[in-house]
Amino acid sequence: MEETTFAMLKPDCVQRGIIGEVISRFEKKGLRISAMKLVEVSEETAAEHYKEHVGKPFYESLLSYISSGPVVTMALTGDSAVDVVRKLVGKTDPKVADPGTIRGDYAMDVSRNIVHASDSPESAIRELGIFFQEEDFVDYRRVEEEWIYS
Ligand code: RTP
Ligand code: MG
Repeated sequence: MEETTFAMLKPDCVQRGIIGEVISRFEKKGLRISAMKLVEVSEETAAEHYKEHVGKPFYESLLSYISSGPVVTMALTGDSAVDVVRKLVGKTDPKVADPGTIRGDYAMDVSRNIVHASDSPESAIRELGIFFQEEDFVDYRRVEEEWIYS
C-alpha cells in the first residue's frame, strides 16, 4: 500500500556535503519525493519532533545536534515507504549498521548518524505535520513508476 514517510538529512549530512548521495539512494530505490525543504530547526521544534526521548541521557545533546545547522526535510512516498526507508537508513548506531545501509556506509557515531526516518505510519503522520503544511506536498508520479511497480 502506498504510504508517505518523513525523513530528515541531519546537520552533519548537510555539512559533509553528502545530501545528494543520500537523496540519490532514496530516488534509486524508487521512492518519490513528495515534499522537500532546507531549513534550520529550532530547539523547540527539535523537542517536539523527538519528544518520545525526553529524559533520556542523550536528549539534550540530541536537541543541540539537530538545531546546530541546516537540515533537509523530506516526504518520501511509495509502497510500504515507512519500513522501506527505515531499512535503507539502517540501525541507529552506525558502528553496527549493516554495510549497504545509509548509516552503515556513511557514518561512525550514534550522535552523528546523518539521517532520520519515521519509525511507524503514526510517527510519519505526526512528524510530517511538524515540518510541512498541506500546500508543501506535490501530487505527481515519476515516469518510471510503471517500471518500478508491477
Ligand atoms: P531517528 O529517530 O533519528 O531516525 O533515529 P532512530 O529511530 O534510529 O533512533 P532513536 O532511538 O529514535 O534515537 C533518536 C536519535 O537520538 C540519537 N541517539 N543517541 N547516544 C545515544 O545513545 C543515542 N541514542 C540515540 C541518535 O541521533 C538517534 O538517531
Ligand atoms: Mg527514532
